[in-house]
Formats: sequence, C-alpha cells, structure tokens
Amino acid sequence: MSRTQSLLLIAGSLLVAALSSYTYLAKQNSPDRWYSQAQVDQGATLYLDYCAACHGNQGQGAENWTQLDASGKRPAPPLNGSGHTWHHSLANLTHTIAQGRGTMPAWKDTMTEAQIIATVAWTQSHWSKAIYDAWSKANP
Ligand code: HEC
Repeated sequence: MSRTQSLLLIAGSLLVAALSSYTYLAKQNSPDRWYSQAQVDQGATLYLDYCAACHGNQGQGAENWTQLDASGKRPAPPLNGSGHTWHHSLANLTHTIAQGRGTMPAWKDTMTEAQIIATVAWTQSHWSKAIYDAWSKANP
C-alpha cells in the first residue's frame, strides 16, 4: 500500500469515527422528541435499504442538490436537517414519502405508514437541537 493510500485509509477511518460519535450524540439529544429510539432503529434499516441511494448514507442529500441536474430534474435534497425539510410538518413529510414527488417514487406500496414514520424518525435523529426546535415551533 502506498503512503497516500495509507493516509487516505486513516482519514477515512477518522471520518467514520467522527460520524458515528456524531450520530451517538445526536441520539442522546432526544428526550423531548416525538419519536422513540425503537422507531429510530427501525428507520435506520429501512432508510439504508430504500432511501440512502439517493439521499446519501447520512441523509446528506445528493451532491449539488440545490442545482437542477443535466436533465433539468431536482436532485435528492438532504434530510439530515441541513436542507429545507424542517419547513414541512410530519404529516406533510410522510405524505411526500408515501406519494412520491418529482423523480422520487411513491413508497406507499413498499412500506406501511408506521415504517414511513420510522424513516422520518431516523432522519430527524440527525437534526440538531436548533433545527428540531425550529421545526417544532413552525409545526406544533
Ligand atoms: C430515486 C431517488 C430517491 C429515493 C430512492 C428516495 N428519494 Fe426522497 N426525494 C428524491 C428527490 C429527487 C426528491 C425531491 C423531489 C422534488 O421536490 O422534486 C426527494 C424528496 C424527498 C423528501 C422531501 C424533502 C423536502 O425537503 O421537501 C423527503 C422527506 C424524502 N424525499 C424522503 C425519502 C425517504 C424517507 C426515502 C426512502 C423511503 C426516499 N426519500 C427515497 C429522490 C429519492
């Protein structure tokens, strides 16, 4: 293995470690949130199976998601709190996921309502307290 490859490997491992502790800390934040840890755990598996391909493993969204792609379509936005998702109520988010929007397929025939809600719980477990509080206030 070349020196550059080893350095890349080390950098990659550090990134994974940082992301896992971030996720861990984010989960510690949740006593006042609407969802349970069980929903977050259920959502994590569903999210990786059905959503990560477009929205990214950590819900970070597609690269350059604010710009239309070559075919004029909107790329998948982040769901981790860094995008606009927090402007939408829980009912609105689950409706979008169930029915699909733009190039996103509808999920209502693949997942139950409870499973869709669990994917939202997982994405919201990545939201900072500031974003979550802003969302709660805007969507009581
Ligand atoms: C094939 C790619 C693709 C997959 C798979 C996918 N999405 Fe999306 N999703 C998109 C795109 C593209 C948009 C933006 C649609 C638009 O507004 O035109 C979107 C929008 C959304 C929105 C609205 C976000 C906002 O800020 O308005 C939510 C919530 C969402 N997706 C959740 C999910 C969940 C949960 C899953 C897994 C069950 C999923 N998506 C799977 C492509 C995808």
